[in-house]
Amino acid sequence: MKRAKRKKSKSTLIGTGLAIVLIGGIAANAVKYSLDEQAKKEYQALQKEVKKAEDKAYDTRKETDIKKAEKIIATLKKEDKELETGKIKALKIYLSMISVAQKNVDKVKANNTDDTILEAQKSIDLLIDAYVTKDKEKLQNLLDNAKAALAKKKAEAMEKANAEIEAKKYDGKKLIALTFDDGPNPMTTPTLLDILKKENVPVTFFALGQRAQEYPDIIKREAAEGHEVGSHTWDHQDLRTLSLEDQKQEIERANTLINSLTGKQVMLFRPPYGSYTQDTLNQTSLSAVNWSVDTSDWRYNSSALIAENALVSAHDGAIVLLHDIHSSSVGAVPKIISELKAQGYTFVTVSDLLNTRAGGAKAHQIYFGQ
Ligand code: NI
Repeated sequence: MKRAKRKKSKSTLIGTGLAIVLIGGIAANAVKYSLDEQAKKEYQALQKEVKKAEDKAYDTRKETDIKKAEKIIATLKKEDKELETGKIKALKIYLSMISVAQKNVDKVKANNTDDTILEAQKSIDLLIDAYVTKDKEKLQNLLDNAKAALAKKKAEAMEKANAEIEAKKYDGKKLIALTFDDGPNPMTTPTLLDILKKENVPVTFFALGQRAQEYPDIIKREAAEGHEVGSHTWDHQDLRTLSLEDQKQEIERANTLINSLTGKQVMLFRPPYGSYTQDTLNQTSLSAVNWSVDTSDWRYNSSALIAENALVSAHDGAIVLLHDIHSSSVGAVPKIISELKAQGYTFVTVSDLLNTRAGGAKAHQIYFGQ
């Protein structure tokens, strides 16, 4: 019995020893496991902090916030560090691209030329990421304004240059402006237009509003063939017999209609019978035009006599009064043109004459030719 008892006792000892070893192992594993858990949690917290710092840097774009984010990123594990460093690098690239575009737009502000605009546009075009969309819109807007300003400046310079060329075109030349009143008349005006076209001579028509309304196609043809079409008031009343308000109506109504037919903005009118007062001139922003050579063509039905009247009084800078409603007047035109051409005259419209010789037509003024 004793032997057997001792035997049993030995095996119990061995069993206990094994149990201790086993329990010790489990305990060690449990400590190790809880340490891993702790580290993992800490690392996750660090990752959150990194994310927060990055968001702030992206949000504020401040150098100090970028540095802070970089500092925290430096404590990450290698593979995470690379990824997060890449994000900060991208932010720095965005900011430098915006800064370059901004500098180029500033250059345009200081010196608005095709070259500076092109350079700025190129750097704005590089801003394609969602992060820079707002910056891009803002800069593009500024650049578009600069582009419009440059285009306007160029157009003005071009206009000025053209005006100078235009003014010089007549330098040292003898100029004369033929004018034709009271039309259009479908029996005579088209014949006159044919003659002028053949001779390549521009003239000025002072048409009546009432007749323009009746024969709009003739007015359109006059303008289309390079003639100037001013107004001779609506229906040829002596303006001095009218109230100032009625004078204004007579002048402006015809002008509005004629300009709408021609698509031009001619700002000239001729008062019927050459009759006006300074009050008349003050009723409108149009300039009044009378004449320096009166052919008295309405009095004669002889083309030869009318031509003679025109030629006798012709002079440099003259404005010649004729009427396109009389066939005798139209009949005088070929002779007037050929004689004056032979004398070295250049035919011009009244506006061209006034632009060249009077610095342009001004409101509340009347012009007679020189
Ligand atoms: Ni008249």
